[in-house]
Amino acid sequence: MASAARLLSRSTLRRPISLPIRSTAFHDTRFAFPPQTLRQQSRRGYANGSSPRSSSNTSLYWGLGLVAAGSLGYYAYSQTKRLTTEAVKQSSAEGKRDGVVVPTQEDYQKVYDAIAQKLIDDDAYDDGSYGPVILRLGWHASGTYDAETGTGGSNGATMRFPPEGDHGANAGLHAARTFLDPIHAAFPWISYSDLWTLAAVCAIQEMQGPTIPWRPGRQDRDIGFCTPDGRLPDGAKGSDHLRAIFGRMGFDDREIVALSGAHALGRCHTDRSGFEGPWTFSPTTLTNEYFKLLADAKWRWKKWNGPKQYEDVESGSLMMLPTDMALVKDDKFRAHVERYAKDEEVFFKEFADVVCKLFELGVPFTTGEDARLRLKRME
Ligand code: HEM
Repeated sequence: MASAARLLSRSTLRRPISLPIRSTAFHDTRFAFPPQTLRQQSRRGYANGSSPRSSSNTSLYWGLGLVAAGSLGYYAYSQTKRLTTEAVKQSSAEGKRDGVVVPTQEDYQKVYDAIAQKLIDDDAYDDGSYGPVILRLGWHASGTYDAETGTGGSNGATMRFPPEGDHGANAGLHAARTFLDPIHAAFPWISYSDLWTLAAVCAIQEMQGPTIPWRPGRQDRDIGFCTPDGRLPDGAKGSDHLRAIFGRMGFDDREIVALSGAHALGRCHTDRSGFEGPWTFSPTTLTNEYFKLLADAKWRWKKWNGPKQYEDVESGSLMMLPTDMALVKDDKFRAHVERYAKDEEVFFKEFADVVCKLFELGVPFTTGEDARLRLKRME
């Protein structure tokens, strides 16, 4: 009897049925699951090796217990089999060779849908959406990239650790990371680094932005991979600084301006950056309004005790950072601001391309660009 109870609790009741499937894109073998992990897991699904059909008839308790164990075990087994079959169908030659399961587009769509649903459910935040701060998380994870050394970028999710999480530029991003924790708990097979960029893609699309092609393949890394402070831009500076910071990542003038269009979304917070206020009147919908305001509205220095920022003359309720204003003070940048102000479609096209590039910086993909997924919006 005691052994039956132990068998039940060990094999089924305390064992989550969700499976530890992982991406094949592991360059660092320290983080790879051994090929036998999945096989072991499916075997364990069978009540410590017992077949679901082998339950004894000696007592009702034993019978019921083993039927329950068998059913749960069989469920786990069949889930494993489903994933294995799909994975084998879709995986690369390498994926088949090392025997590690590859999640499918459908699996990533489920993660996307869960984030999109949570964005709708948790609407009592800021201007009614976590979308902007989640996009900022994806950007700050990626924007540490240094093309010369190949360090930084979204691969690693090293902002989970205090040295990087505590960088001044990352103030407030715990809100986005905490928002995503239950999503990671529900889909434990996805790396945080894939999750953060996928969530940022979801945030853009659910805030009416363009479809951003995205592919998995990032792996979480340890604290030793945290990047040094000072790699992200400082809003108090000008065009030289923007070119130095984004040039380090491999972006040109056009791409810098397109990326800055993300400031159509969200706001500044005095308790985070020190700056205050939104850039546009619709901070939870992506439009080209940021460029229209930069090109057409009148701006003046805001009179207040905070850091130097601009306010719009007409309403006094919108803001621009010195780096935003650099985009119209510098002629080369300004040409792109005007292009985007005139045509939202052009902005969306170039924004999608450059965000896709940003989120892939420094990621050691084992797949090609044809592996990029186009995840569907919530209906
Ligand atoms: C061009 C250089 C950039 C500078 C200097 C800059 C600076 C800032 C600052 C100071 C804030 C306010 C943070 C706060 O107080 O909560 C902010 C917010 C934001 N940034 Fe940027 N940023 C830059 C580029 C980008 C890029 C490339 C993206 C995305 C592609 C982006 C997306 C956002 C979003 C969505 C928010 C709003 C966050 C929220 O509402 O909580 N920024 N940025």
